[in-house]
Formats: sequence, structure tokens, C-alpha cells
Amino acid sequence: MESATAKSQRSRGIIEHYAEFLPVSASMPIVSLGEGNTPLIHCPQLSKRVRGCEVFVKNEGVNPTGSFKDRGMTVAVSKALERGAKSILCASTGNTSASASAYAARAGISCAVILPAGKIATGKLLQAFAYGARVVAIDGNFDDALRVVRELGESGDFVIVNSINPDRIAGQKTAAFEIIDEMGDAPDFHLLPVGNGGNITAYWAGYREHHAEGRSTKLPAMIGFQAARAAPIFHNRIIERPETIASAIRIGNPASWKQARAAISESKGAIDVVSDEEILTAQSWLARHEGIFVEPASAAAIAGLFKCCGSREAAHSFQKIPETSRIVCTVTGHGLKDPDAIIQRMEKLKPVAATVNDVRRAIGL
Ligand code: F0G
Repeated sequence: MESATAKSQRSRGIIEHYAEFLPVSASMPIVSLGEGNTPLIHCPQLSKRVRGCEVFVKNEGVNPTGSFKDRGMTVAVSKALERGAKSILCASTGNTSASASAYAARAGISCAVILPAGKIATGKLLQAFAYGARVVAIDGNFDDALRVVRELGESGDFVIVNSINPDRIAGQKTAAFEIIDEMGDAPDFHLLPVGNGGNITAYWAGYREHHAEGRSTKLPAMIGFQAARAAPIFHNRIIERPETIASAIRIGNPASWKQARAAISESKGAIDVVSDEEILTAQSWLARHEGIFVEPASAAAIAGLFKCCGSREAAHSFQKIPETSRIVCTVTGHGLKDPDAIIQRMEKLKPVAATVNDVRRAIGL
């Protein structure tokens, strides 16, 4: 029998699970909150939209701090601790800062987060405060924040835990490993939102590595989606003033631009754009039809799937793909992080009398 302290699969975290594929040593202290091992959910209603192809949603919103960032952060913070770091630092549109704050707290080191003022979703900002980070808001956007962080990092006082830190990418590639392990092979298409380009780079590295090891027979086409008014990779130029309701991907000069481009071209994939309206429609559709509530940036992957199915303008059309195709969409962050758009749409709840009749009437029976 296992001892009471033996860890279940769920509690192990990605370093213990995938140590052989990660840049870690046996003596490294592991800073983990049980990240990874997230559900790959088969979605029948989404599948119907693609003529019966199988569509799966990789739900990264159920990670410890509610986003995929935790996969990279467990590796980045463990390695920082091994090297004796006392402080970590990041720029963020919200999720990286939430994750960095939590893992720093867990490691017993300090964390400073540099954020674009007024542009961080409520839940994410709240997380940084809850975990005790030093929060600095700047007059500027994410690209300005990352510039400042890069300069500050040169002093050597901090370890930068943005995805320019290769340990972050190494951790995030484990999501691709999990998909292959669970499906028995790689999917044919992988759709995901793109901001800084780190995650698409990480998935592609993961798919390539497992393929090279003979764990999968094929490689997926990587299809990334940017918000229409924050789409530097799509337009192939820096966007000085990116704007989108999907604040997580409000980025005009992605740090992993080249790597993201390489992932797209090597995989014979595509980069495309979706509008804010399409993003909000997809967010609501996914919650109501599949029971999965994601933040707007994550819904860009679902809006993108709809575009591939229906629009003649899509960079990649699903109209002629074989019916045996398997499609994975990564949804990157939990819907509760960014409640503002939904709160605005909520009707004012008016209390009714506490009687069965009044409640029946209010339900509409
Ligand atoms: N989805 C969510 C929910 C994100 O928070 C991010 C990035 C992305 C997608 C895009 O991933 O940058 O690797 O291409 N968020 C970063 C942050 C920028 O600071 O939290 P990417």
C-alpha cells in the first residue's frame, strides 16, 4: 500500500512527471503546486461544427493559478532557487504575474511584477496582491513593461521569469507531451491564442521532441490566433498601440516572434486573426454549449476554430479536411480571472418574494 504521503498523479506536478525531458537535476529543489495533468476534454458540440471531426479542448484554466503559465513557472522558479536567487521579476498582461507571485511565495523568495496600468483583468491583479508580490503599474503597455524588465534584469538582482527565460518554454512544452500521452498520438491540428509567442513555441518544441523519440507518428499543424487589433505576427510589423478586449494577448511586439513564425512555417500551420466580437461570442458559446468557461484570450482559439470552419477568409480552411482529423484547442486561462465583460452583460438581479409561486414565475415555469 502507498504511504499517506505518496503523491497522487494529480499532485506530482510536471517536473516529477516529465523530469527526463526537462533541464533539471536530481538535486534541484522542486517548487511545485501540482501543475499540469490538465483535462483534455472531448467536445461533441464543437466537433459537430467541423463535420464530425473530433475536437478536444485542453483546459489549462484548471492549473493552480488558473492558467498555463504554471507549467513554465514551476521550472523557472525551481531553477532560480537552485541558483540561489532571492528575487524574481516579470512583465505581464496578468497571468504570468499571478503565476510568478504564487511560485515565489511557495519558494520563499520575493517577486516583483511590472504591469500596464489599467489593463490587467481584475482576477489576475487580485492574485498578485493575494500572493504578496510587489506590484508596479507603469504608464505604458506590455511591450514597455517588458523593455523595462529586460533592462532591470541586466543588474543581476533578479531572475526574469518571462518566457524569454528558456526554463519557462521547457516547462510549457509538457502540455504537448500530455496530449500525445493521452491521445496515443499527436493531433492533426493544434489551435491556440498567440500573444508573446512563447506558448506556440513551447508546444511545437514538445511535439517535435516526442515525435523524435518515436512517441508519436505525426506532427500537428500549429494554427495561432491573434486579436485583430493586436496582430503583429499576422501583419508582420510591430503594432505600436495594440488594443483588444482579450487583455492577456494585448501585445504589439512579441518576444518570441521569430520562434513563433518558425513553429507556424515548420508545422505547415498558419497565423490568423479574430475580432473582439468573435472572441466574446466564442467565449459565451463554449460556456453555454460545452460547460467550459474561459477568459477572452483563450476564447480566441475557439473563435479561430469557427473561422477555420466557416469563413472564406480563414488562413487555414477546415472545409476539406478528412473526417478522421483530430483537432486540439488549448484554452489558456480560466474565465473567472476576467469577469468584467460578463459582469457588464449581467442583468440586474431583482429579488422576488420567498414563495414557491413567486420563484416558479421568476424561473418562467
Ligand atoms: N492566453 C492567455 C490567457 C495568456 O495569458 C497569454 C499570455 C496567452 C494566451 C499568449 O501566450 O504570450 O505565450 O503567446 N500572457 C502573458 C502574460 C503575456 O503576461 O500573462 P504567449
